Amino acid sequence: MCGIVGYVGGRQALDLAVDALRRMEYRGYDSAGIALVGTDENGESFLKAVKRTGKLANLEDKIAEVGAETLTGSTAIGHTRWATHGRPTDENAHPHVSFDNKVAVVHNGIIENFAPLRAELEAEGITLQSDTDTEVATHLLALAYNDGDTAGDFRASALKVLNRLEGAFTVLFTHADHPDQIIAARRSTPLIVGVGEGEMFLGSDVAAFIEHTKNAVELGQDNVVIITRDDYEILNFDGTAAEGRPFTIDWDLEAAEKGGFDSFMMKEIHEQPAAVRDTLAGHFEDGRVILDESNLSQSDLKSFNQVFVVACGSAYHSGLLAKYAIEHWVRIPVQIEVASEFRYRDPVLDERTLVLAISQSGETADTLEAVRHAKSQGAKVLAVCNTNGSQIPRESDAVLYTHAGPEIGVASTKAFLAQVVANYIVGLALAQAKGTKYPDEISDIWASLEEIPGKVEEVLASQEEVGKLTSALGAVPTMLFLGRGVGFPVALEGALKLKELAYIHAEGFAAGELKHGPIALIEDGLPVVVVVPSPHGVKQLHSKIVSNIQEIRARGAKTIVIAEEGDTAVEPYANWLIRIPATPSIMQPLLATVPLQFLAADIARECGNEDIDKPRNLAKSVTVE
Ligand code: F6R
Repeated sequence: MCGIVGYVGGRQALDLAVDALRRMEYRGYDSAGIALVGTDENGESFLKAVKRTGKLANLEDKIAEVGAETLTGSTAIGHTRWATHGRPTDENAHPHVSFDNKVAVVHNGIIENFAPLRAELEAEGITLQSDTDTEVATHLLALAYNDGDTAGDFRASALKVLNRLEGAFTVLFTHADHPDQIIAARRSTPLIVGVGEGEMFLGSDVAAFIEHTKNAVELGQDNVVIITRDDYEILNFDGTAAEGRPFTIDWDLEAAEKGGFDSFMMKEIHEQPAAVRDTLAGHFEDGRVILDESNLSQSDLKSFNQVFVVACGSAYHSGLLAKYAIEHWVRIPVQIEVASEFRYRDPVLDERTLVLAISQSGETADTLEAVRHAKSQGAKVLAVCNTNGSQIPRESDAVLYTHAGPEIGVASTKAFLAQVVANYIVGLALAQAKGTKYPDEISDIWASLEEIPGKVEEVLASQEEVGKLTSALGAVPTMLFLGRGVGFPVALEGALKLKELAYIHAEGFAAGELKHGPIALIEDGLPVVVVVPSPHGVKQLHSKIVSNIQEIRARGAKTIVIAEEGDTAVEPYANWLIRIPATPSIMQPLLATVPLQFLAADIARECGNEDIDKPRNLAKSVTVE
């Protein structure tokens, strides 16, 4: 939520900052801006800022209007915004510049005590230019630098201001009198340092600088970092020395770019076989499931007598599938809750509770707070996460990484499939430790998981068929999705994808609930997607959904049926039939979700939403509650 970049080095900082913001744009695109500091030919230091509401392209137009040649400087900070305080306007865009035109600040997160700080500044006679919480930090820094015990000392002034801010934030400060450094800080929101040769970078994630260096440093909680061309120094908020964690980035630039597809989302849909394969890799050897990355011992696993799953959005849908799998394989109760609700009631947790916190980004504020609450209650937390070094795994007792690679498209696709797979690995590890499945049963389930990448490849071939169906459907004002058993979370996920990409009303229902109300929505021509359970699974489920299809068709619905190859029973009731390979029921969501991703993307384009990577009002990682 909001992308932040910083650069200090010998190159033209403007171009580097624009490129870095392009890679950060998935984190927010309500506005974008850059501030540059440098020294002119007369030795005078300067600060220049340029910003504009809307996507980065608008900022590029503004730069062209102003003239890129006038925006020189070898130090830059940049920001791409997902609005929290204040509407997306030019005034509210970052960077914010101080009353004396010396300080520029970009910020991700929320400064919770901004109201009293704002009142204090107004009492000093400072007129604030924006409605944002961020702007207060800008003027406070200028005041601290101009007067009092921190006068003329950028570092001391920055620390003074940081210690006054409450909330969760990443901030980058530049000062015109210090054109060779950036001071940055993080509390609960992300910031990574990129270490180049004679240049240093800052980014909300490594994609900001991956093109220039693979050497990165992860900052701890409540850390400050001061970067110059040749060095970085990490401090605590009290000014004492702190240590970061250096690491080498194992993603390459290509992984963070589109690879020949017209959108990141399409690329990521096609990367799903690899995401599943890579997530499975290394977790099954000599007939045993291995949770080697996870830090949980066999006796820990054995001791759990209940599981709580906390997650948001698509990750929550993957968690619903964890419930089906774990209860079936391990025979212990699994409760699942959207993370934003979890800590506001009083869930019954203890040291024999495993809390599974699922998050692609590892930054989602609601999930992070749920993790903190679970730990405070003595539960053990296992994070399922796609982002190395992010906050949720850092604060959890253990982590199982999904290896989906960077997911840039805002709507989750490959990360969702990888989460389902990781959840199943957790379920199998629990079943193995508790002895609720025989080793040969576990091996059989593992063998079906290993077949999934090949089967997903087959489903990817359905893209064309889905395209034809979308054109035939034409404009649709609303759409329903039905499923039973493990098809129900798929229905929810299909509806969520359609809402976020096409901006049309969509709802997912358990097909059995239909007659308890939603059937009233069915009218002539209404498209309804039905995820049909395998005829080889629980028999009653299949026949019951076939009855449900007949009920809605009798009321005029047009049915789009996702069914297993060889399931001929559904043929008479499908206006459109999309086939997926046969697989054990519990694995079916890993296949049935894929055509629904295509469907949502195609309908979005039919509706004129070409930029499916960046749906309106959304951001990739939601770091505010
Ligand atoms: C939907 C989507 C969101 C995320 C949710 C959780 O396509 O992407 O619903 O799944 O915001 O995000 P993470 O997994 O990063 O915690």
